[in-house]
Amino acid sequence: MGTRILAGRTAVVSGARRGIGAAIAEALLAAGARVVVCGRDAVQVEAAVTGLRGRGFAGAEGFGGDLHTAEARAELLTAAGAVDILVNNAGGFLRTTTTLDATDEEWDEQLRANLTLPFLLCRAVLPGMLGRGWGRIINVGSVTATAPQLGNAIGYVAAKSGLVGFTRQLALEVAGTGVTANVVNPGTVGTEHLADYFAASPQVSEAELAQRIPMGRLGRPREIAALIPCIASDDAAFLTGAVIDVNGGAVTA
Ligand SMILES: NC(=O)c1ccc[n+]([C@@H]2O[C@H](COP(=O)([O-])OP(=O)(O)OC[C@H]3O[C@@H](n4cnc5c(N)ncnc54)[C@H](OP(=O)(O)O)[C@@H]3O)[C@@H](O)[C@H]2O)c1
Repeated sequence: MGTRILAGRTAVVSGARRGIGAAIAEALLAAGARVVVCGRDAVQVEAAVTGLRGRGFAGAEGFGGDLHTAEARAELLTAAGAVDILVNNAGGFLRTTTTLDATDEEWDEQLRANLTLPFLLCRAVLPGMLGRGWGRIINVGSVTATAPQLGNAIGYVAAKSGLVGFTRQLALEVAGTGVTANVVNPGTVGTEHLADYFAASPQVSEAELAQRIPMGRLGRPREIAALIPCIASDDAAFLTGAVIDVNGGAVTA
C-alpha cells in the first residue's frame, strides 16, 4: 500500500494492541488514516501506541476500556470524534469446547465478545456515519463460519457465523447511504492468541493446524491486514455485504 488512500479518515480498531488487530492498525496508519487502537487495558494500549509512534506512525492514538459498557462506548466516541472506519477485530476463544462440554459461561462469553460487541460498536458509530454519508464497517470473523473445524469452541463458531448474518443484514439496511459493511474471515493465523490457545488446548498443535491448510502453513497477521485499507477505501464503495475468506485455501476444514 504505497499511497495514503485513507488520509483524513479516522479508524477505530478493537482488540488492536496485538495480533491481527495490531497489524490492521498499522496497515490503516500506513494508508494515512488516524487510528484509535482499542483494548481493555489502558497500559497495554499505551504501550502499543508508543510502539507505533516509535515506528513513525504519528496518527496512532489509544483507547483503553471495556467497550461492552455504554459509558466506555460514549467515551470512545468522544475521544475518536467522527469514526469513518470501524474494524471489529476483538474476539477469540481459548478452550476447545463442544456442544456437550461447553459451560453456560463459556457460551455466553463467546457470544458476547465475538458477536454482541461488534453489534454494540456498529450501533454506536452508525448514526455518525449515516449523518456524514460515508462509513466503512469491517468485521473480522473466522474460517469457522465458512467450514466447520474440529478443535474449535462451539459458542465461538456460533458467534462468528452469526457475525456473517448480522453484517449482511446491516449492509442491506444501509445500502446506498455511503456506508458499507463487510466481513473478513481469516483462516488460522500465527498470533499471540494462538499461542494462548495452544496452552489452553494442548491436544492441538501448530503442525496439525498447518497440515489442514492447503498452502501448508499458517497465515501471517499482515496477510489479513493488507486487505483492510482496500476495503476501507473510496474505491471499494460497491463492496458491501461481502464475506471475504483469507485462509490459504482452507475452504474445507
Ligand atoms: N489467530 C487466528 O488464527 C484467527 C483465526 C480466525 C479468526 N481470528 C479472529 O481474528 C481476531 C483477532 O485475533 P488474534 O488472533 O489477533 O487474537 P489476539 O492476539 O488475542 O487479539 C484479539 C484481541 O481481542 C480482544 N479480546 C479478546 N477477548 C475479548 C473479550 N472477551 N472482550 C473484549 N475483547 C477481547 C483482546 O484485546 P484486549 O485484551 O487488549 O482487550 C485481544 O488482544 C479475533 O476476532 C479472532 O477471533 C483469529
